Parts: sequence; structure tokens; C-alpha cells
Amino acid sequence: MLSSTRILDPSSSSDVTLAVDLLRAGEVVALPTETVYGLGADARNDRAVEKIFIAKGRPNNHPLIVHISSFEKITEWAKDVSPLAKKLADAFWPGPLTMLFHKADGVSDAVTGGLPTIGLRVPRNELFLEVLRQLDSGIAAPSANLHKKISPTCAEHVLSGLSGKIAAVFDAHACPVGLESTIVDLTSKIPRILRPGQITRQMLEKVLKTKVDDFEPHDVSVAGNMVDHYQPTTKLLVLSAEQFMPFLTEANKNKRRLGVLWFGAADLQQNELIVSRVMPTSRELYAQQLYAALHEIDAVGAELILVQQPPKEWSEIIDRLQKASYKQ
Ligand code: TXA
Ligand code: MG
Repeated sequence: MLSSTRILDPSSSSDVTLAVDLLRAGEVVALPTETVYGLGADARNDRAVEKIFIAKGRPNNHPLIVHISSFEKITEWAKDVSPLAKKLADAFWPGPLTMLFHKADGVSDAVTGGLPTIGLRVPRNELFLEVLRQLDSGIAAPSANLHKKISPTCAEHVLSGLSGKIAAVFDAHACPVGLESTIVDLTSKIPRILRPGQITRQMLEKVLKTKVDDFEPHDVSVAGNMVDHYQPTTKLLVLSAEQFMPFLTEANKNKRRLGVLWFGAADLQQNELIVSRVMPTSRELYAQQLYAALHEIDAVGAELILVQQPPKEWSEIIDRLQKASYKQ
């Protein structure tokens, strides 16, 4: 265990160099991406990669995404790269899309959790890309949260779970996308989404001009699809618009202390037992703010977090809320 975690300034070139030096020395550093914060280690250094699993408390057979600085680096990590990959990279990289390939010979099992496939993405964050270029390697990085906890979208969230367990974290702006990348498997005949994200099936199909299979919400064979991923400490319940108000009224009567995320016109301030937050009606803004809202409301010590169900077309958001919900 490290005694302290260094807080790095993203605008300081000496802090960027320090982060690169730490990564080269086999340490783990939390870096912002456009989606969520990642907990990075040099993907060619097994002992460094192992530190990611230890810091997060994540089982060793959960594969990590390797972040690279450009499409040209892909063959260092993957083989039999589908021609579809170039089309997707041209359209969406740098950006919130992870593609799965067969891993190249020589890529360590430590990164892929023993799988023959590897997830690759070019993140859309200048700081991350600069660190990648200086390091001249790939950076293996899962979300920088404790295993099964909510992903972090700012340095404060990272520190709340990992302070003292990692060498350093950049104190950068909040992550603009706010949800993890879309994962698309390009090793099967028909590309298949394994995790929904900001880049939707329709967007992928438009670029590829071919069918893309959708994710199966409860396919536990993919680690990222574990049904109980991303859980806040407080029990979370998603209720439809019809169920929402009656539930609230009843809970009010029983003086239950609730945390509420809803689409109302204002905070529910009339009742001191309720801590509420009005969520945006724009899909992008909702995604951007969801994890911060959950982190915040999880910390107030409510008995239950009540979430008003967003529109069913918001598949990536519904997916994360389902994973965050309390299961009997
Ligand atoms: O936006 C993101 O993807 C963020 C940022 C940091 O890049 N990363 C992220 O990593 O969300 P993580 O490890 O928290 O989630 C990645 C998911 C994992 O659940 C993992 O099981 C799955 O991707 N994954 C990675 N490589 C895979 C592979 N070869 N086969 C199947 N699933 C894979
Ligand atoms: Mg994660």
C-alpha cells in the first residue's frame, strides 16, 4: 500500500512527464478519458497490470481495455483485424468506442484475463494521448473505481475509492461523456455490441452499412455485463413515471429518508427527508451527469435511491441503471 496518492496538474508538462515516468516504473496512474476516469498501467508490463487488479479488488480473469494513441498501433496488439475496423476508426476514433479483436501473438494474458481476444480504443482526451505518445506503449485501463462500484467521472470520485492505493491521479475536468465506451466485438461474423454506450447500434450500422447485433442485457459470460456491476452502496430502485409519485407519497408518509433522481421541475425541497436532484431531459447531459449524481446521492446516507425511469430508447443509460439497481 502506498502512503499517499499524488495529485497531478494536467496543465503542467512536468506533471505529465512524472506520470509517464511512474508508468514506465510500473506504477498505476488514474487518467481522465472522455468517458470515465481510467486506472492506467503500461500494458506491456505484467507486474504493473497486476497492480490494477490489486488496487481495484478486481478478479484477475476480467479483461482490460488497452488504450492506444492511433489506429496505426492496432497491429501491435491485435491480429486478423477485420476490414470493418478501419471504417469504425475513421468515424469514431479518437472516441468512446472499444473494438474487440483476436489478440496479437505475444500480448500478455495478464491484460486479457486469459482470453484470446483484446479490447482496443483510442481515447478522445489530449492529456491521455500525450501520455500514450511519450510512453510509446499501450495503456491498460479499466474504470478507476473499486470493483463493482460506480465509475468515476472526476478526480474526487477516484480518490474516494482509491486514495493511498495508486501512485497518482490527474485533477482534470469532469469526463464529458460520463458513461463507459460502447464495446463492439469484431471477431464474430456479424459485429455485436457487448456493452452499449454513446455510440449506438444505429450509428455503427450507418458507418458499416451492415447489420450489427445488439447486446443481450443479462449475458453474464461477458464480465462487463455482470448484472450487479456499478452498484452504489445505497439500494437503488428504478420506477416508471406512473409508479414514481405514488411510491414517493407513501414513502413520505412513512418518513423514509430517500435520495431521488427525477425529471421534475424542481428539487423536492418541501420534505427534509428527501434529497433530490433534477436530471436533464437531454440524453447526452443525463449520461454526463448520472455517475456524479449517484456518487453525490449515495453519500447522503439515504435509505433508498429512487430513480425515475428515463425513456426506454436511452439504452446505454437504462443498462447502467439496471446494473446499479438493487436485486432481491
Ligand atoms: O470507457 C471505457 O471503456 C473506460 C475507459 C477508462 O476507457 N474503461 C472501462 O473499462 O470501462 P472497464 O474495465 O471498467 O470495462 C471494460 C469492460 C470490462 O467489463 C471487460 O470485461 C470488457 O470490457 N472487456 C475488455 N476486454 C474484453 C475482451 N477481450 N472480451 C470481452 N470483454 C472484454
Ligand atoms: Mg468498470
